[in-house]
Amino acid sequence: MYHQRIRNSFTCLKTIENINFSGLRAIVRVDFNVPLDLDFNVADDTRLRGAIPTIQKITADKGKVILMSHLGRPKNGPEDKFSLKHIVNHLSVLLGQKIHFVTDCIGDKADEAINNLSDGEILLLENLRFYPEEKTGDVDFAKALSAHADVYINDAFGTAHRAHASTSVIAQFFTDKKAFGALMTKEITNLNVLEQNAEKPYTAIIGGAKISGKIDILNELMAKTDNIIIGGGMAFTFIKAMGGKIGDSLVEEDKLELALKTIAKAKELGVNLILPSDAKLADSFSNDAAVEYSKIDEIPDGWLGLDLGEESIKRFKEVIAESKTILWNGPMGVFEFSNYAEGTKQIALAIADSTANGAYSLVGGGDSVAAINHFYLTDKISYVSTGGGALLEYIEGKELPGIKAIND
Ligand code: 3PG
Repeated sequence: MYHQRIRNSFTCLKTIENINFSGLRAIVRVDFNVPLDLDFNVADDTRLRGAIPTIQKITADKGKVILMSHLGRPKNGPEDKFSLKHIVNHLSVLLGQKIHFVTDCIGDKADEAINNLSDGEILLLENLRFYPEEKTGDVDFAKALSAHADVYINDAFGTAHRAHASTSVIAQFFTDKKAFGALMTKEITNLNVLEQNAEKPYTAIIGGAKISGKIDILNELMAKTDNIIIGGGMAFTFIKAMGGKIGDSLVEEDKLELALKTIAKAKELGVNLILPSDAKLADSFSNDAAVEYSKIDEIPDGWLGLDLGEESIKRFKEVIAESKTILWNGPMGVFEFSNYAEGTKQIALAIADSTANGAYSLVGGGDSVAAINHFYLTDKISYVSTGGGALLEYIEGKELPGIKAIND
């Protein structure tokens, strides 16, 4: 059923589908900002996998692929730990093809590497953020990047909220020779289901540590959803604002008033704002802490809530089971600790069940995607977004510079 809703949500995007890349040099902005472990191995390759369809479309057409990305937030030029060389092997295994790598993204070395590229081959440029001009959106830097190619493809949804040289400014040098990659197209199409085809009841599940950064999205969602479930650390700020006792749980003292305003606004709009009614407690922030359970607003001093209690899990699951559209962003507890993972796991399973029963589900944001992967549920969700900040800004209704640059 949700496939129909995806088709309905497909607005006229400039996609790579109808481009024949034969003999063309395509510069593709990807988001290879992936987590690396202590040995610099790729710890989560979701974003690399996401870029495969675009890369393979170009190589199958016998075009030349020039990949560009950032990795991390380098401050003062090149830093080995942020080099994209760390992902070359992993990407090459995923694609079953050699990836050429060049230690600069502009200048003589980059030019030479591109000149040596044959049709159907792939080159990865070094981290764009080794040049501060990338983040400042420098026009000359964008122009230098644009000179590498005949066509510009933006497939970096995760970075679409940044107005940087490679995500936005560069597009002006390609006039009509620019398009969204396959991943970007999939992201926009799926997000449009929430915008335009959200079947009711529509439930948003918002979690994570803090309210700050999520207030705008809560306000925006109130205009569209029937239920907003709040979990994770941010729930305690709401509970304290309502006069509850939260012990040593996480709280944002400067957001108490904002929390009350949010509750009042939900009431006014007739949206069900559903908070946890109980919690699983710890006497320290550790997986080995002593465990206790309590009502959410009766947490004794010396204890902190790290997960949902059983009653909250039951209530949240009932709401999810009745929903036809589900958005999930942010975990329900400290699921990295196995003793405090149950709430997040049960919510993930409930979303998967509801999806199997015909609901449309979209999960996004680093931690919730990590949870979905951790519980092996990726294939049971309608769409798992590669966007963190970009996803939130899109749902807030902001126009993302990376999308605007292609549409303009
Ligand atoms: C992300 O991981 O959210 C994107 O790659 C953007 O990275 P940034 O927040 O460092 O701009």
